Formats: sequence, C-alpha cells, structure tokens
Amino acid sequence: MAAEQTSKTIEAYPMKGGDGVHSYANNSSYQGRVNNAANRLITEAVVEILDIENFASSNTFRIADLGCSVGPNTFFAVQNIIEALQFKHQRQGLHSQLPEFQVFFNDHILNDFNTLFSSLPPNREYYAAGVPGSFHSRLFPNASLHFVFSSFSIHWLSKVPKPVVDKSSPAWNKGRIHYPNSNDEVVKAYQAQYTEDMECFLHARAKEVVCGGLVALIIPGRPNGMHHSQSLTTDVLESCLMDMARKGIISEEKVDSFNIPMYFMSPQELEAAVDRNGNFRIERIITELGTVPETQSQKIPSDFRAVFEGVIMEHFGYEILDELFDSFGKKFEVEFITKPMSGSSSVFFALLKRKATN
Ligand SMILES: C[S@@+](CC[C@H](N)C(=O)[O-])C[C@H]1O[C@@H](n2cnc3c(N)ncnc32)[C@H](O)[C@@H]1O
Repeated sequence: MAAEQTSKTIEAYPMKGGDGVHSYANNSSYQGRVNNAANRLITEAVVEILDIENFASSNTFRIADLGCSVGPNTFFAVQNIIEALQFKHQRQGLHSQLPEFQVFFNDHILNDFNTLFSSLPPNREYYAAGVPGSFHSRLFPNASLHFVFSSFSIHWLSKVPKPVVDKSSPAWNKGRIHYPNSNDEVVKAYQAQYTEDMECFLHARAKEVVCGGLVALIIPGRPNGMHHSQSLTTDVLESCLMDMARKGIISEEKVDSFNIPMYFMSPQELEAAVDRNGNFRIERIITELGTVPETQSQKIPSDFRAVFEGVIMEHFGYEILDELFDSFGKKFEVEFITKPMSGSSSVFFALLKRKATN
C-alpha cells in the first residue's frame, strides 16, 4: 500500500552538525542531564506500563527516536530503553523470549546523519537505521513501532506561523523574533501553528504505534497557568540582532521578518491535544524535570549557538554568525548577573499509551 502522503510545508533547521567546537554534539550537555533525569521515568514506564506479553508474537521490538540530532544523548536514551526491556523480560522469566531490537534514528533530512552513524556505539545490541523526514508527517508503516521516544524536539514548529510575517496582519511581529513578549495576536498565531502541528504529530503516531505501545516525550515547555512572557525568552538574541541592524550590518526589515519556529506548550495544552486526537491515554505527566541551572550559565551561549545557528544562518547568512554570537555571549553574561534565568525554562515528561482500536 502506498505510504500516506502529506501536503504539509515543512521548514527544517537541524542542529549544528559535526563534532566541532560549535556542534550540537559538543554543546548539548544540558539536554543530556535532563534526559538522564528522565531515565528513571522511562525505566518505570517500561517496567510498570508496557505489556510485553502483547508483543510476544513479534520477535522484533522497534524503537524510534524522533528528532535524534547528533551526539551522545540519543544513544544513552535508546540504551536505557533497551536495558529496561531486558530487565523486564528477565524479571518476568521471559529471558528466552527476549526480542531483537531495531532502533530508528529520525531527524530532518539535513541532519548530520553521517556523524550520527559514525558515532554509533560499536557494541550496541540493536539494529540501527536512519529515517529522514519530519515527524509532523508519517515516517513509518502502520502499527510498526512499540516505543517512541522524543526529547527536546517537539517544541519545534513545522514552520513560522504565516500571520507573524504578514505586514497586513494584526499578528505581524515587527521588531520581535519570538512570541513571549509580543501582543496577543502573535501569541495566538503561534498557538494555532502549535495546535495544527501537534494534531499532525499525534495523527501520524496513532497510525504507526502498535496498540499498547508507548510514546515518551521530554518537552521544554511552561508550567500550567504561567504567562507566555515568563517562558524562556530570546530577548538577548533579539537585542543583539537589533544592534547589528543599527550598525547597518543587517537590515531592520530582515530582523522584522525573522521569527523562531518554536512553541513552549504547557502540560494542559498537550493534554487537550491528546484528548482531541483520542487514540492515546496519558499515563504520566511529570513537571519540572529541569530548569536552566545557574552554575551552568557560562555554557548557555555555546548551547544556544548549537541550537539556533541553523535557523539564523538560513535567514541572515553565514557571515553574521561569529559577530552575533560573540555579542550574545557578552550581553548574556551581563544580563545573567542581573536577571538569572533559573526557572524560566521548564521541561516536562509525558508518557502516552496507544489505546486499543475498537
Ligand atoms: C535540540 S535537538 C534534540 C536532540 C536530542 N533528542 C537531544 O535530546 O539532545 C532537536 C532536534 O529535533 C529535530 N527536529 C525538529 N523538528 C523536527 C521535525 N519536524 N522532524 C524531525 N526532526 C525535527 C531538529 O532537527 C533537531 O535535531
């Protein structure tokens, strides 16, 4: 049967590839620490919630990491899922029925899959495959996945919401590069894009995940009830870009038309999306998995560059990167002393279980 088609336009801004000084692989220790904190939750999910007996007839257990990027984080997460499965089989006396494991590493086609593949752990106990494409559309055949994992990825939108770059729209986001400190119309445009994207994400996963299969998500978001203006802001980056516009290095119009395609959902917003989709049950939501730790403040500018370089380069070109991130580092240091970021980014964990079909 032909794969499900999608007409969705998708913009892709993968993290900085390779293993150089600015690479995501070398600047993702914050994400790695939060993922580590979630390991226990993933182990509990496998041990307490996954019904492995239901999958006994399949001798291959399929895991997908959506938005895997490059670097050690993806391998640690996958290893943890497999160890939890091995433990569960052993504990239930099913060791002889241990399935083979197949792991799909997914990211946008422009992700640095070469570096990812060349850094695969040599003694891994799974078959590895890369799956290029957007998780906002179908990536896998019907009912083929048993465990989906995604960390620090589904807050990326499929595109910048159209109204925020439309000069004739009340949601035109002039002089701003994101929504937290913008007017309500801008916030609504981002919310609408998030709603549409999450609907696509859940629709695709509902087809791909077997009944009883799990979806574990680590999401940079904002606590329920928190106003958007209190979420992680990109004010410092915005003011560095405006400085460059004042110096004539880039045009102000170029800054006006630049917006970051990211949305910080709350657990309640996720719950509403899962309800609307109807195919999953929420098994766990654990909030406050991580905040930006003060002691790591000196690492934030380089982590920031590894994440945002792609999206900035696409819009402004390569030439401005060093100057922009130099001034970002300096400004950030000053800002951080007066206004520590602690608590402004709140990461939560959500575990969904695919319901049985009627
Ligand atoms: C910050 S990295 C997270 C990497 C890794 N999961 C971790 O925890 O360190 C986010 C990744 O999500 C990917 N991503 C964003 N939107 C995506 C989409 N629609 N489809 C597939 N990958 C996407 C980006 O390309 C990027 O590699």
